[in-house]
Amino acid sequence: MPDPMHFDGMADLYDRARPPYPDALWERLRALGVLGPGTRVVELGAGSGLATAPLVAAGARVTAVEPGPALADLLRRRVPETTVLVGTAESVPLDDAAFDLAVVATAVHWLDLDVVLPRLHRALVPGGHLAVWRHVFGDPAAAPTPFRERVAGIVRARGDVPPRPGPTEVDTAGWVARLTAGGWFALRAVEELRWSVGLDAEQVRDLFTTFSEWSAEEADAAGRAVLDLGGRVTEHYLTPLLVLGRAEVPDR
Ligand SMILES: C[S@@+](CC[C@H](N)C(=O)[O-])C[C@H]1O[C@@H](n2cnc3c(N)ncnc32)[C@H](O)[C@@H]1O
Repeated sequence: MPDPMHFDGMADLYDRARPPYPDALWERLRALGVLGPGTRVVELGAGSGLATAPLVAAGARVTAVEPGPALADLLRRRVPETTVLVGTAESVPLDDAAFDLAVVATAVHWLDLDVVLPRLHRALVPGGHLAVWRHVFGDPAAAPTPFRERVAGIVRARGDVPPRPGPTEVDTAGWVARLTAGGWFALRAVEELRWSVGLDAEQVRDLFTTFSEWSAEEADAAGRAVLDLGGRVTEHYLTPLLVLGRAEVPDR
């Protein structure tokens, strides 16, 4: 089972290597009317602030929950306007009806949703929203590239690894079912944002080192694959975005 503290041991690398979220995501949240100046946001698993900084830039007042002390420290320095609570989404104290929007960016698979969804329901105001998104590094709908074939070879060489519990990262319908279970939240919108990025060998090695299921040797092998393929690759990524509304009366 991957270690949720994996990222805290590499806070600076994480911050440098992970790509930003696409502009279309922020535009979509604004267009849905869930993000704007003065929006009170609670962000769970904020990491180094890759989502926090654009939320603050959009005018939101953000309370960020992050269990990793090194990441929390970096987040405080990077986005000083943010209130940072060091702790887990399952246990950190949150005031009742204190937030308009809860955000979970590339962190939902780390959370115990049986605990977190009722907590968020309590922490949000009536009419509040939950926005969940993540990076999928390798869009399954994109045509396979020589680099992706090399990546698939590295993953295959691991042999049988027990799957993580819960839906896979590309199972958007599975995540909708998981996030609406218990009746705390109802689906309002789903978007699948597709985007591409050019990466050199060092950027690939750094990025793949941040993946919790990748070893350092495998990340090195991915970097070497880029060198074999001419020193630069275009990667096609996917960002599923789910926006849910707080249910007035949980259907339990
Ligand atoms: C892949 S990182 C995403 C960080 C950031 N949201 C981003 O978009 O870059 C996952 C984050 O979830 C945090 N995390 C892991 N378990 C958690 C928990 N139980 N409650 C809150 N955050 C958690 C990790 O410390 C890490 O910062």
